[in-house]
Amino acid sequence: MNYQAVLEQVAADIAPHIGAGRPAEYIPALAEVDPASFGMAVADLDGRVHGVGDWERPFSTQSITKVFALALALARGGDELWQRVGREPSGNPFNSLVQLEYENGIPRNPFINAGALVVTDRLQTLTGDASSEVLDFLRAESGNPDLAFDQKVAASEAAHGDRNAALAHFMADYGNMRNPVPTVLEHYFWQCSIAMSCRDLALAGRFLARHGLRADGSRLLTRSEAKQVNAVMLTCGTYDAAGDFAYRVGLPGKSGVGGGIVAVIPGQCALCVWSPGLDARGNSVAGVAALDRFTTLTGLSVF
Ligand code: DON
Repeated sequence: MNYQAVLEQVAADIAPHIGAGRPAEYIPALAEVDPASFGMAVADLDGRVHGVGDWERPFSTQSITKVFALALALARGGDELWQRVGREPSGNPFNSLVQLEYENGIPRNPFINAGALVVTDRLQTLTGDASSEVLDFLRAESGNPDLAFDQKVAASEAAHGDRNAALAHFMADYGNMRNPVPTVLEHYFWQCSIAMSCRDLALAGRFLARHGLRADGSRLLTRSEAKQVNAVMLTCGTYDAAGDFAYRVGLPGKSGVGGGIVAVIPGQCALCVWSPGLDARGNSVAGVAALDRFTTLTGLSVF
């Protein structure tokens, strides 16, 4: 597969979508990004990366890190996590509170904010430093030792974090938090603030295309666990748009309000696309269009 030629074709085809939608505004530091940015990268199983547009420019990973936190929590602590968080699409916005009360403080899945807070709490218990665990993993997999928390984004999110605090306190009341809520929130905000490029994220997502094998050849997840993480990405990775994403793109994918989306073609490659304009559900408009175009042009998907 000539990935470079495909990426160039994708970028040309979806150009009219770039700038559509609106960058996230509820985290003020994210609203400052140039809405005309667009980048896309593909990392193959051997770690060769191809890219187009702004593929080497760092952006705020935000909810994309929920995938890596989940993989690490499963790798370090196994299946026990699933007693505290479900695996069903929520059909609700990523930061919604309503379902939590009906469902006794057990979030629907690890990729909505409530579920990710439980995963962060679990990783904090298992490692003593959840956000550094995620950062170290991302540095190792991307081969980029310069990856760092973005202090401005983390501070901005903490200052506007009442909704996440409400989710965490609510779950604590149901007995679904093991660490103090302020500690869990701090690690969650740090984790979300990590800045990475499409190149970095395509490389970091490669372990899911390699059925659980890390860049150094060691195993993070069993083949079965890698399948499970990919399955939860497919069904829950793009929130209340997961059905539409599966219909259009046909791949496990995870979006973030920074405008990035990571997608996986098991046994083939990992992709990352970035463009900051979001649709009403919080997914990048040009990003979804580009992944749609990629799978349509190549015929590569999980279906
Ligand atoms: O907690 C938040 O709201 C953000 N740090 C992350 C949300 C996010 O990226 C959801 N994505 N679409």
